[in-house]
Amino acid sequence: MKAEQLHGDLTRVLFTEAEIERRIAELAAQIDSDYAGKEPLLVGVLNGALMVMADFSRALASHCEMDWMAVSSYGAGTQSSGVVRILKDLSVDIKGRHVLVVEDIIDTGLTLAYLIQNLQSRGPASLEVMTMFRKPEALKGAVVPRYVGFDLPDEFVVGYGLDYAGRYRNLRDVGTLAPHIYA
Ligand code: XMP
Ligand code: MG
Repeated sequence: MKAEQLHGDLTRVLFTEAEIERRIAELAAQIDSDYAGKEPLLVGVLNGALMVMADFSRALASHCEMDWMAVSSYGAGTQSSGVVRILKDLSVDIKGRHVLVVEDIIDTGLTLAYLIQNLQSRGPASLEVMTMFRKPEALKGAVVPRYVGFDLPDEFVVGYGLDYAGRYRNLRDVGTLAPHIYA
């Protein structure tokens, strides 16, 4: 769905589908060049990274492989607790592989810090992170993503894989939700 089909659910659109597509193309060109001859293993973090992975992997001009992890932060609401449970692990062994974690958004970075520590212990040849969106809190975090699509204001956003109560993942644009949706 498109932002204009939401009839007022959004306060504002932060990034349009076209802007996201352009930025993905830039990141893909950069990563094609940085990983020349290396055939990276892209590790997507479900569910949010679904859209980024689909668009980013197809924007690459080089070969890559893809695998998926699903993790859940313990604790309710929109706050990350830093205690992470693996709901679905990788299907492949990453020892000696060039692993690029593909994330939708880094907020506090607690989820990612756990994930990176866990993946690092498996002995990859290299381990880097690409995230489509980054919030201001992430700048204080332990994990520095090598590739960032866009920096966000410190507001809850939806669209392009990001949900509120399960909805809006299929929104093509990214925007902030109107307060009446939370009420
Ligand atoms: P941390 O704080 O561990 O959390 O970096 C990252 C996860 O929190 C979710 N998250 C959001 N989801 N809109 C969303 O739909 C947001 O603005 C937002 N901020 C954080 C998301 O699941 C992410 O993987
Ligand atoms: Mg996520």
